[in-house]
Amino acid sequence: MAPARQVLVAVIGAGGVGKCFLSQLEFLAKKRPSPKLVLSYICTSKKAVYNDDYSDVGLSSDVLSTLASSSKAPLSLPKLLDYLVKSDSKAVLIDNTSSQDVADAYPMFLARGISVVTPNKKAFSGSRQLWIDIFNVSGAYPGAGHVFHESSVGAGLPVISTLKDLVQTGDEVTKIEGVFSGTMSFLFNSFAPTSGSGGKWSEEVKKAKELGYTEPDPRDDLNGLDVARKLTILGRLAGLPIESPTSFPVQSLIPKELESVASGDEFLQKLPEFDSQMEEIKTAAEKEGKVVRFVGSIDMATKEVKVGLEKFDRSHPIAGLKGSNNMISFYTKRYGDSPLIIQGAGAGGEVTAMGVTSDLLKVLAQI
Ligand SMILES: NC(=O)c1ccc[n+]([C@@H]2O[C@H](COP(=O)([O-])OP(=O)(O)OC[C@H]3O[C@@H](n4cnc5c(N)ncnc54)[C@H](OP(=O)(O)O)[C@@H]3O)[C@@H](O)[C@H]2O)c1
Repeated sequence: MAPARQVLVAVIGAGGVGKCFLSQLEFLAKKRPSPKLVLSYICTSKKAVYNDDYSDVGLSSDVLSTLASSSKAPLSLPKLLDYLVKSDSKAVLIDNTSSQDVADAYPMFLARGISVVTPNKKAFSGSRQLWIDIFNVSGAYPGAGHVFHESSVGAGLPVISTLKDLVQTGDEVTKIEGVFSGTMSFLFNSFAPTSGSGGKWSEEVKKAKELGYTEPDPRDDLNGLDVARKLTILGRLAGLPIESPTSFPVQSLIPKELESVASGDEFLQKLPEFDSQMEEIKTAAEKEGKVVRFVGSIDMATKEVKVGLEKFDRSHPIAGLKGSNNMISFYTKRYGDSPLIIQGAGAGGEVTAMGVTSDLLKVLAQI
């Protein structure tokens, strides 16, 4: 069969990750003349840029200003699918949003031959039925699209591809554990450092927000759900039928009294009243010569999945993490007592987009 002359790339989302992806796509398109990569559609939640003849909408710096001044509304997801399917070329959908609606549409795109690449966790960590619907179709028959989502766990770190390789080559994963949230990593590395006393909890949360490490409302990080979603994805890939990210114990660091305050700002304002709770936890760990960290773990033998605070010796690799780094350890039969450890920046536009762009390369190798 003759190689495809061109592949259409349709991008939903042009925020922190989306913008970095566009510049990496520009690099890739220049570096890799065949098949020609054509950015034929891009949208945010309010605006879109595309041409009826599927011609390239422009390079990254230009297309962002075209997008900002566009008067076109985004196509609905079924219309976007029709638009892509009607072209003579293969097409890839890049979902750079955190939208559940877009995630829910993946099976529809895959079934019509459109591959999907995304850092969006929602499709893989929500209902088990959506997971089943996606993987029943992805690559399942000639003409079906393929799905890749490396950056949905650990940003660009090769976490998902490594776990898939372990499982597909017949290794037996016994345990997965680590620090899965850049925000939590940053907070605990500065609240309970291995040397020195660290700051007050509420001050560290405020600082993390000011540095852009937290969601606009820090409770969206402190509720532990982001870590629970990542463990759901890894657990499912390792073979556990996890029902949802709320089907196992997840420790929330939001004081009960502040769960329902109206805004993130009000939450931050009242958080100092609860500093003593976190201080007690830190002191209890210090008395044992340890530090406290927010971690997640999956025990494959007992099928136990949990997310929350744990104490670690100061010499433990998890205790010594720096900044907002992630660390994910895979314990397997082959690796024995020396787990396979992946460590590095687990957040940030450029590194997350790298995972997306390298997934696009995997799609290109398949189609
Ligand atoms: N940033 C990181 O370090 C990181 C790391 C790992 C994974 N991720 C994941 O990467 C994804 C993108 O993150 P981000 O930081 O780039 O987010 P972001 O800066 O908030 O950007 C999101 C983009 O998606 C658009 N969007 C949202 N809902 C949409 C919809 N229904 N239809 C069309 N466009 C929609 C937004 O448009 P509007 O501006 O018009 O709303 C915006 O352009 C998320 O799933 C996130 O969890 C991010």
